[in-house]
Amino acid sequence: MNNYFCRIIPFLLIFHILLASCADQPPQVYIVYLGEHSGTKTFQEIEEFHRSYLHSAKGSKEKAKDCLIYSYRNVINGFSALLSPEEAAKISEMDGVISVFHSHPTILRLHTTRSWNFINLLEGLGDPNPPNAEDLLRKANYGKDVIVGVLDSGVWPESESFYDNGMDPIPHSWKGICESGVAFNSSHCNRKLIGARYYLKSYEAYYGRLNTSLDFRSPRDKNGHGTHTSSTIGGRRVPNASAIGGLGSGTASGGAPLVRLAIYKVCWPVPGQTPAEGNTCLGDDMLAAFDDAIADGVNVISVSIGGSTSRPYTQDGIAIGALHAMKRNIVVACSAGNSGPSSYSVSNVAPWIITVGASSIDRVFSSPIVLGNDMIIEGQSVTPFTNRTHPLVYAADVELPGTTTNLTSGLCLPGTLSPALVRGKAVFCWTGDLFESLEVQRAGGKATVLGNSYQGQGVLGRPYLIPATVVYSDKIDIYNYIETNQNPNVTLIQPKTVIGTKPAPFMAPFTSRGPNFIEPNILKPDITAPGLNILAAWSEASSPLNVPADNRVVKYHIDSGTSMSCPHVAAVAALLKAIHPDWSSPAIRSAIMTTAKITNNMGTQITDSLGNIATPFEYGAGHIQPSKAADPGLVYDASYDDYLLFLCSSTGNVLDPSFNCPQNIPSASDLNYPSISIAYLKGSRTVKRTVTNVGTTNSSYSVRINPPQGYSVQISPTALYFSATGEKQSFSITITAQSTAKKSVFAVGWYTWSDGIHQVRSPITVAAV
Ligand SMILES: *[C@@H]1O[C@H](CO)[C@@H](O)[C@H](O)[C@H]1NC(C)=O
Ligand SMILES: *[C@@H]1O[C@H](CO)[C@@H](O)[C@H](O)[C@H]1NC(C)=O
Ligand SMILES: *[C@@H]1O[C@H](CO)[C@@H](O)[C@H](O)[C@H]1NC(C)=O
Ligand SMILES: *[C@@H]1O[C@H](CO)[C@@H](O)[C@H](O)[C@H]1NC(C)=O
Ligand SMILES: *[C@@H]1O[C@H](CO)[C@@H](O)[C@H](O)[C@H]1NC(C)=O
Ligand SMILES: *[C@@H]1O[C@H](CO)[C@@H](O)[C@H](O)[C@H]1NC(C)=O
Ligand SMILES: *[C@@H]1O[C@H](CO)[C@@H](O)[C@H](O)[C@H]1NC(C)=O
Repeated sequence: MNNYFCRIIPFLLIFHILLASCADQPPQVYIVYLGEHSGTKTFQEIEEFHRSYLHSAKGSKEKAKDCLIYSYRNVINGFSALLSPEEAAKISEMDGVISVFHSHPTILRLHTTRSWNFINLLEGLGDPNPPNAEDLLRKANYGKDVIVGVLDSGVWPESESFYDNGMDPIPHSWKGICESGVAFNSSHCNRKLIGARYYLKSYEAYYGRLNTSLDFRSPRDKNGHGTHTSSTIGGRRVPNASAIGGLGSGTASGGAPLVRLAIYKVCWPVPGQTPAEGNTCLGDDMLAAFDDAIADGVNVISVSIGGSTSRPYTQDGIAIGALHAMKRNIVVACSAGNSGPSSYSVSNVAPWIITVGASSIDRVFSSPIVLGNDMIIEGQSVTPFTNRTHPLVYAADVELPGTTTNLTSGLCLPGTLSPALVRGKAVFCWTGDLFESLEVQRAGGKATVLGNSYQGQGVLGRPYLIPATVVYSDKIDIYNYIETNQNPNVTLIQPKTVIGTKPAPFMAPFTSRGPNFIEPNILKPDITAPGLNILAAWSEASSPLNVPADNRVVKYHIDSGTSMSCPHVAAVAALLKAIHPDWSSPAIRSAIMTTAKITNNMGTQITDSLGNIATPFEYGAGHIQPSKAADPGLVYDASYDDYLLFLCSSTGNVLDPSFNCPQNIPSASDLNYPSISIAYLKGSRTVKRTVTNVGTTNSSYSVRINPPQGYSVQISPTALYFSATGEKQSFSITITAQSTAKKSVFAVGWYTWSDGIHQVRSPITVAAV
C-alpha cells in the first residue's frame, strides 16, 4: 500500500506543476521534428539543445521549464512540448526545424488458428505441387533470430501464446529493456517476450492523468488488442485454443512461432468511453516508441494503428518514425484502416511502409434462423447458444414513443426499445452490432436478429451477451413475415464452424480503399491479408466485448479489422528476413507484393463482400502468399535516397535536410515501386523501373501485359536476361491514353515478368485528365 502511494503521488504533483507553469491556455501538444542525430552528444546535451528552442520561443528559461514532454535522443532528432499556436509558429521558423505539428490522437478502432492454414491452402490452389507452409517455417527457423516490435495497447504476458519453453537465448543484438510498472515487472519478459515498454507522457498531457481503473500504468494490456496482434505475429503453437463456446477451435499459432516480440505500449483508453469504442494513440508517444524500437534493435515493426488519410508525411508521426526505421533496414507494416468501403480512405500511405488491407478467410460461423413460416435465412454468429424458438418482434413496432424519428426507427439505438413490449421476445433490428444487441438486452429481450450494418457476407463475429445472429440478405423477408403474421416466431440455430467456404478470400467491407489521398501516384494499399474474424490471444483483464456489462474472461478471442491483417504481413516479413537476411526492406515488400494472388479459391477474381470484382484499390497487389514470397525471382529494390528523391517530387519538402533535391526532379510515379500509379496522365507517359535478380543465374524473363481499359502499355525491352544473382536490369513502361480512356477515373491493368517459374506481377492504375 505504502509503495503504491509513493509511486503515485510524485506523478500527480508533477502533472499539476506542468499544467500550472506551462500552459496559460488549454495545453496543445506539438512535435518539433529536427531530422536525425549525428555526432556523439550525450542524452543530457541533446535535451539541453531541445530546451534551447523552447527557451527562445517562450522568452525565458523559467517559462519553458516544464513544457518539454519528450526529447527524442536515440535516432530521431526532435522533441514534443506544450506550446501555444504562436510559439509553435515561432519555432517552425528557427534553424534546423523541419516541421512542427500537432500530436493528434489517433483512435484505434476495431480496426489464429485458421488464418495460417488458410494461407497455406490458398497457395496450393491450382498448383500441382502446392508449397507446404511448414517448409517455409523450417527454412526461416520459425523466425527465431528475428525481433518484431509491436506498437499497440501492450501485452497479456501470461497468455500461453507467449510461453518461452524450449526457446534459445535472446539474440545478442537485442538492446531493449523490460520496463516495470503496475502488475508488470522484468519477470514478465522471457525468451519470447524479450522487451516491453510503455509511453503515456503525451497521452497524459492531452487527456490528463491516466485513470488507473481503466488501464495499467505499465506494458500490461487491458484492452486485448495488443495481445491479439502480438500473438498473431509470434504466438507459440497452442493446441485446443478456441473462442467462447468452442468456436473456431484448433491449434492457435502466430505466423512466426519462434520470433521474438518487443512490446511498445502506445495506446490507452479514451476517458469517458468504453474500450469497445477504441483506444487512443498519440503521435509523439508513437514517435518515442519508434525511436526506442530502432535503438533496441528490432528487425520488423508492426503498427495496427490508423493514421489520418490526409496528413502529409512531414506531419505524421508514424510516417516519420517508419522512415528512420527504413533507413536502418527495419521493415514497417501498418494497417490500411477500417474506413471502407469509400474511396480515398486508405491511411499509412508512405511508400516506405507496407500498407495492409483486410480480407476474409475460408471459415464462416454459420447460424441461420428459421421463421415460423419455415423460411430459413442465412446468418452468422460467434455467440454460443443452443437452438431455441422465440416470439419475434420488429424493433420499429416496440419503440418508446418519441425516442426515434422515421430515420432512426427500427435500428435498436440505445434507449429506444420499450421493455414492456420487448420482454421475453426476440427483436429484429434492421441494422445492428454491439450497442444494438446491448439495447435489446437492456429492454429484456431474449434474443436478437441483427441486420448486417456492413455489406453482404462480410459479417463481423462478436460473442454477444444474448443469443444473436447477424443476417445479411433477405432482411425484407423477415420484415414481411413479422408484419403479416399474428404471432410471429423465430428459431435461432446454434452456430457452427464451417471451413472451406467459397468464395474466399473476399475483401472485408470495412477495409480502407485507395486511391491514395496524399500521393495518388503511389498505389495503396500494397497487399491484403486475413483480417475478418481472426482468432488470437486476448487480455484476461478485458472481456470479449470490452464493455462494462460483459464480465466474461477469455484467453482467445475472434476480432476483425486491418489491425488483424497487418500482423500477418509483419510475420511474413519476419520469416523472409530470416531466410534472406541480406534483403532490404523494399526488397521484402516487393517479394510479398509481386507474388500475391488475385484469384480466390474458386479460381475466379477476388471480389468484395457483395460479389463485385475487387481492384488493386482494395487489395493492392493481391492476397499474400508467403511461400511464393520467399522465392520471388525478381525484386524492385529502393534505397533510402530513392525515397528522399520521391519526397522531392511528392511534397516538395524533404524529411532529411542533408539531402539536396536535384534540378530535375523525377515524377513520384518513377519511384522504383512494385506497382505503378499515374494520377494525371496527359497523352502519354514513360516511367522507369529496375529489377534485381534474386533467383538463379542465367534466367530469362519475358513480359506479359494486360493494359488498363482505354490505354495502351508498351514495355521496353520485352525480355530481360540475368547472368548472375544480384544483377539489375532496367526497363521502361510507356502508358498512352487512347480516345476511349475515361477522364479522371482510374483504370486498372497489370504487367508480369515471367521466366516460366516465377510470375512477377505488378498492378498498373492510371487516370487521364
Ligand atoms: C514480479 O511480480 C511478480 C508478481 O506478479 C512477483 O512474484 C515477482 O517477485 C516480481 N519480480 C520482481 C523481480 O520484482
Ligand atoms: C475512472 O474510471 C472509472 C470507471 O469508468 C470511473 O468510475 C471513475 O469516475 C474514473 N475516475 C476519474 C477520476 O475520472
Ligand atoms: C485437446 O482436446 C482434445 C479433445 O477434447 C483432447 O483429447 C486433447 O487431449 C487436448 N489436447 C491438449 C494438449 O490439451
Ligand atoms: C411458430 O409459429 C408457427 C407458425 O405460426 C407455429 O406453427 C409454431 O408452433 C410456432 N412455434 C412455437 C415454438 O411457438
Ligand atoms: C439445431 O438445429 C439444427 C438445424 O435444424 C440441427 O441441425 C442441429 O442438430 C440442432 N442442434 C441441436 C443441439 O439440437
Ligand atoms: C420523415 O418524416 C418527415 C416528416 O414527417 C417527412 O417529411 C420525411 O419525408 C420522412 N422521411 C422519410 C425517409 O420517410
Ligand atoms: C550460365 O551461362 C554461361 C554462358 O552460357 C555458362 O558458362 C554458365 O555455366 C551458366 N551457369 C549456370 C549456373 O548455368
